[in-house]
Amino acid sequence: MSPALPPIRQTSPAAERNKAPILAELLRLLPAQGAALEVAAGTGQHAAHFAAHLPGWTWQPTDPDAAALSSIAAWRAQAQAQAHLPGLLPPQQLDVLAEPWPVTGLPGPIDLLYCANMLHIAPWACCAALMRGAAQRLAPAGQLITYGPYLVEGEPTAPGNLAFDADLRQRNPAWGLRQLGAVATAARAAGLQLHEQVAMPANNRLLVFRRHPPHGG
Ligand SMILES: C[S@@+](CC[C@H](N)C(=O)[O-])C[C@H]1O[C@@H](n2cnc3c(N)ncnc32)[C@H](O)[C@@H]1O
Repeated sequence: MSPALPPIRQTSPAAERNKAPILAELLRLLPAQGAALEVAAGTGQHAAHFAAHLPGWTWQPTDPDAAALSSIAAWRAQAQAQAHLPGLLPPQQLDVLAEPWPVTGLPGPIDLLYCANMLHIAPWACCAALMRGAAQRLAPAGQLITYGPYLVEGEPTAPGNLAFDADLRQRNPAWGLRQLGAVATAARAAGLQLHEQVAMPANNRLLVFRRHPPHGG
């Protein structure tokens, strides 16, 4: 569905800060070409930046929010005015709780499902929905990559993350930082396993999930 609002480009300072370190990990983890579905693309800064630096990739940004879709479209227009970016597709509306996901931009299996900073700003049910959607759509060697702050069992939580968690829960009792172990359990229930975790700046983590190897190995 095309955005209902005229394109209004929003800027997230955090996305400006974290797009370079995330891109460095994507360049390390991803093959030279593939198809990526971005869930919860927000402002669209990540989509524009990553598509510009991953020229072999088709990148489909999505978000459920009309203002976000408008902003993603505006960042896409700006990126395409600066460079030829045929792989950066127009944004599509996607709420991970929808069944099935109404994403038509990428008809076949996908090589990457990328989702940054959604799990703590959405009800917990969105985590299982994200994992189910990923398991349904990922190619056999595909990867689900999430980014954000997590609570980690046995590790002290950084004061900034504790304050962020309290603020989120005050804004919406269904929100809050997620336990990394619980996220990994939800992934396993959908047939994915936590393959790698990378410590990122500002007490964030990048998590890489892949399909369980065949034969339970
Ligand atoms: C904090 S923003 C993150 C945006 C961007 N990924 C980033 O890291 O800058 C959270 C995003 O999650 C999206 N979101 C919330 N609930 C969602 C859901 N049920 N399905 C998909 N996206 C959702 C919001 O619309 C919002 O754009």
